[in-house]
Amino acid sequence: MSEPRQIAPATGRLGVLLPGLGAVASTVIAGVMTARRSGEAPIGSVSQMAHIRLGSRGDGRNPLIRDFVPLASLDDLVFGGWDPISANALEAARTAGVLEERDLAPISSDMEGIVAMDAVFDRDWVSRLDGFRVKTGANKMELAEALMADVESFRSENGCDRLVMVWCGSTEAYREPGAVHQSIETFEQGLEDSHIEISPSQIYAYAALQSRVPYANGAPNLSCDLPCMIELAERNGVPIGGKDFKTGQTLMKTILAPGFKSRMLGLNGWYSTNILGNRDGEVLDDPENFKSKEVSKLGVLDTILQPEEYPQLYGDISHVVRINYYPPRGDNKEGWDNIDIFGWMGYPMQIKVDFLCRDSILAAPLVLDLALFFDLAARAGEKGVQEWLSFYFKSPQTADPALPPEHDIFIQQTKLKNTLRVWMGEAPVTHSEAG
Ligand SMILES: NC(=O)c1ccc[n+]([C@@H]2O[C@H](COP(=O)([O-])OP(=O)(O)OC[C@H]3O[C@@H](n4cnc5c(N)ncnc54)[C@H](O)[C@@H]3O)[C@@H](O)[C@H]2O)c1
Repeated sequence: MSEPRQIAPATGRLGVLLPGLGAVASTVIAGVMTARRSGEAPIGSVSQMAHIRLGSRGDGRNPLIRDFVPLASLDDLVFGGWDPISANALEAARTAGVLEERDLAPISSDMEGIVAMDAVFDRDWVSRLDGFRVKTGANKMELAEALMADVESFRSENGCDRLVMVWCGSTEAYREPGAVHQSIETFEQGLEDSHIEISPSQIYAYAALQSRVPYANGAPNLSCDLPCMIELAERNGVPIGGKDFKTGQTLMKTILAPGFKSRMLGLNGWYSTNILGNRDGEVLDDPENFKSKEVSKLGVLDTILQPEEYPQLYGDISHVVRINYYPPRGDNKEGWDNIDIFGWMGYPMQIKVDFLCRDSILAAPLVLDLALFFDLAARAGEKGVQEWLSFYFKSPQTADPALPPEHDIFIQQTKLKNTLRVWMGEAPVTHSEAG
């Protein structure tokens, strides 16, 4: 057992700031309001519903995570956000069409009260959307300052003790990090010069970190996974993490692939295709934006299967990912996987997965958990990249950029729970011997 961490109590209100009041954001807000109102279980939320074993198997200590670590209570959450199109969370929910009117009716006035702040938005990064609730400024530094002013007004108007920010905005176009992203100094100069390589999500990340607000990135584009942001997070003592919520097909992939590997079954190919008809699907219909998603989705198999260690089993995998925008499906995505595996004496087999999922229903509990755990991390004195929250991301950021990320969802879950155990002065569970 270790000494428990000093963790400041979760007293007062926690403001959850969401850039991008779209399908995911409006679904998480509606779910929290419904849970508060009617006590409905927040299904899919590990922070709210999962238990954590403490000590040996026979000890019988298995509390809920939320009773074990000092998390903010759902009653203490206040939501806010920015959007260049949605006027408020109710309109966003209706546009997204994820939730039925019967579920929105009891919370409609509270949802309507969450009015979108004007966004920092640029069509160069999201060509399929035409935003009109958009901030203007002489340069990108002024836009960042306007966001910081929003953060402070939100904090004081809502009497928040603490804030967290989770990017739920559209996926931005794919770009490699440039010279402007290499240090705080170059980035700040870039803001002054309105450097073309600085995207809106990076301006939000900068504003959050300068406001000492933890920042998590739910989209696959570069935002806080840049040297300048890591330096700023360390300097200002703020936790960060990303990227891309792990839902749908990638969730299935990171559940199945560790199973194949555990049994030393080989893999020749994994073909994944999706049809999706929501605004996210429309944005991803642009090849530049899809590229961000593709890179994030393709990374998972290699690190789980370790082809360098197992060349006979995983040395030659054909991994293809497609997303097709198909409006009739709305948020109710369908993801098909054709998996070509092989076994004893090289005999081939196939597995077909047809996941009729609901994108935002899978993503909403992740936003809640990330908000609560990032707030916990800040109160525990953490700063910089929070690797223990890799569990939630398709393309997890590593604290040491030279190290590969961990994609196996079961290892990620163990890391999350062991981190909580250690912070609370409990022994990590290693499953060794009688433990
Ligand atoms: N739903 C999932 O399962 C899932 C999984 C992984 C990642 N994501 C990512 O989460 C994000 C949100 O997904 P969604 O389904 O809610 O999409 P959405 O299109 O419904 O919502 C995104 C919202 O962001 C707004 N927006 C765009 N640029 C903005 C900016 N600069 N500032 C503020 N707002 C901005 C848009 O107007 C839109 O309302 C997307 O990037 C998506 O790729 C979603």
